[in-house]
Amino acid sequence: MAEQSNNLMPVDQEPKGLGSRICKAIMGVRWKVNWFVLLGLVVVGILFYMLTSSQLIDGAGSLRWKPVGLQGDGHTGHHMYSTWPDFDTEPFINKAFFKGKCAPIINYTMSNLVQVKKQWAVTKDLKCRELYEKFVSIFSFEARDAPLKLPTKFMTKLKHWLGDSDELLQQAYNQEVIHVVSEYTREHTIFNSLRDKRPVLPPAESEDEYFNKLLAETAKNCDFCNYKENTAEHIFGRLESKHSFTASNAFKLDTLHALVAPKKHDPLHWTLEEFLDLFGLVGSWLKKAHAYYPNAKFPSLIWDVLPKCGASQVHPHLHVMLDPERYHGQIEAWREGAEDYDRDHGNNYFTDMVNIYSALNLTVARGSAVAFANLVKCFSMGMGLPPIDVEEGKMPAYARIITRGYVTDIRTDISSLELFMAASVNIDPYKTMHTIRQYIEETNLNT
Ligand SMILES: *[C@@H]1O[C@H](CO)[C@@H](O)[C@H](O)[C@H]1NC(C)=O
Ligand SMILES: *[C@@H]1O[C@H](CO)[C@@H](O)[C@H](O)[C@H]1NC(C)=O
Ligand SMILES: [Zn+2]
Repeated sequence: MAEQSNNLMPVDQEPKGLGSRICKAIMGVRWKVNWFVLLGLVVVGILFYMLTSSQLIDGAGSLRWKPVGLQGDGHTGHHMYSTWPDFDTEPFINKAFFKGKCAPIINYTMSNLVQVKKQWAVTKDLKCRELYEKFVSIFSFEARDAPLKLPTKFMTKLKHWLGDSDELLQQAYNQEVIHVVSEYTREHTIFNSLRDKRPVLPPAESEDEYFNKLLAETAKNCDFCNYKENTAEHIFGRLESKHSFTASNAFKLDTLHALVAPKKHDPLHWTLEEFLDLFGLVGSWLKKAHAYYPNAKFPSLIWDVLPKCGASQVHPHLHVMLDPERYHGQIEAWREGAEDYDRDHGNNYFTDMVNIYSALNLTVARGSAVAFANLVKCFSMGMGLPPIDVEEGKMPAYARIITRGYVTDIRTDISSLELFMAASVNIDPYKTMHTIRQYIEETNLNT
């Protein structure tokens, strides 16, 4: 009897006895039957698609579902590009004028940009208006209240994280989160100013100690220190300069995938001369590669330093690609954004970005180079150089650079948040700019 009552157990309860096992087996057979039916339907579906689609495609010329922009001019990949107005770093509005006329606000900080935007939105001056329209067309910039409740015990802990400051604790109850979306490149960045106000705790292990140990260990068997024997070359040969050399990546990501590296093993201590020499060699390699493969036109460059940032070798090395169709990955997305911007406004996207950042006092200019504290995320360094012999969609040399935090910190700064959603940025870009300005002054970097 006990067996029988077992047999009557509902299937969603713990299956224990023999009966329920049989029951599960029968269910299994039923499932298999269902799978066969489903599989059959899928096969029929695929056959149907193959039979009908042969009428849809007879050569690329008559693709029925042509991607937008696939007009195939043969030079610029699949996206159609036009010739943009020249890139120009001369600011449209002087920053003192901006501060006086467009947004006569107190202190410029990331949090205050919310107030800046409000004042700027109602400005009467025509130049201010024109720049405002560019700003809101490129960026969605929005502050959101994020209040919270805290149990006493956790409140004490949080206050401690905030350096035991009552003022910061008050701010913690009523946080403000700023969302910046770059509308043309679909990048989403979030600033929470409270994170920037936390006291910075030094890492447990000294960075110097870590670095020196790593440097000594890796220098012993470094392939790049003995590049002539231990690195591959492109078939058109290797280039060398006083301080740098080129190699071909052994496991290539493209026909033209070079490593350009200084001869010195140390990735942190450089002279300006060594740095310029390295980038000079990047230019020479691109020229040579283009001469050898005239169709290769789109140069991009990436650089990670030290394992914390994903560098595979401690010896510093840049990856340089020269592609015949398009820039690699995200860099082409910047270019596409700029193309869409040109179509919408008839202006050079990069020029207008410089105009906006300059008005907001977030730039430093030296000659024809401008550095700005980007409102969108950056990681390590990624750079697109102007295309070679192409007038359409002509990017200026545009690099995004950021430090990745303490080298001794084992936590990664890229998680699913950054990969799939928005990057969370803790540092006020005005602080970043301040640091850069100071650095330029201290080092007298005037070239
Ligand atoms: C721009 O910022 C710097 C600080 O980095 C400040 O000294 C300068 O006065 C600011 N310029 C204007 C016009 O607000
Ligand atoms: C501007 O910022 C400085 C430094 O953070 C501060 O001392 C000053 O009170 C601020 N001024 C206003 C009007 O908020
Ligand atoms: Zn080395």
